[in-house]
Amino acid sequence: MTREEAWGLVEAHVEAAGLRRHMLAVEAAMRFYAARLGEDADSWGLAGLLHDWDWEIHPTLEAHPKAGIARLREAGCPEAVVQAILAHNPAGTGVEAATSMDFALRACDEITGLVSAAALVRPSKDVRDVEVKSIQKRWKEKAFAAGVDRAEVERATEDFSRVAFAGQLALADHIGNVLAAMKEVAAGLELDGRLVRPA
Ligand SMILES: [Fe+2]
Ligand SMILES: [Fe+2]
Repeated sequence: MTREEAWGLVEAHVEAAGLRRHMLAVEAAMRFYAARLGEDADSWGLAGLLHDWDWEIHPTLEAHPKAGIARLREAGCPEAVVQAILAHNPAGTGVEAATSMDFALRACDEITGLVSAAALVRPSKDVRDVEVKSIQKRWKEKAFAAGVDRAEVERATEDFSRVAFAGQLALADHIGNVLAAMKEVAAGLELDGRLVRPA
């Protein structure tokens, strides 16, 4: 399955621009970590890009992403990617994370929401102006990126750190890595200042 085919699936089934941007952000973070760990960036990227592809078809945590998996396999999605996608919602699928890719996806999923929120509160609305410390400062602020469960992000980061970094990936490092990855794709995320530039 090529990236183009994966994106075609997303374009065909995901209408919400925010959800598309979320998957692009997670894709960027996954590619970053694959490169860092000497893993296959294409398959790690696919896991990020596709993980929520069926949310608008199966918008409950019981059905998503389980009900969409047959379609993914049909489209030629590699089995390791399928497993990572299943393992991002273990409560719904019963599939626990096992590989580094699985743990990476869990660790990169929700944290992208904090980074996006940090970009959107800046006057420039440019993710390239965001610093790690601005995200850390708002970590305990409940109204900021209210949908992002901090405890879950912390747990997922610790697990990923243990499995892939011998426990050496601190939360601040993880925030910095995801931020760096998202800066690289600022235009695709529409977090490159365009939201405040006159048309
Ligand atoms: Fe999901
Ligand atoms: Fe997600």
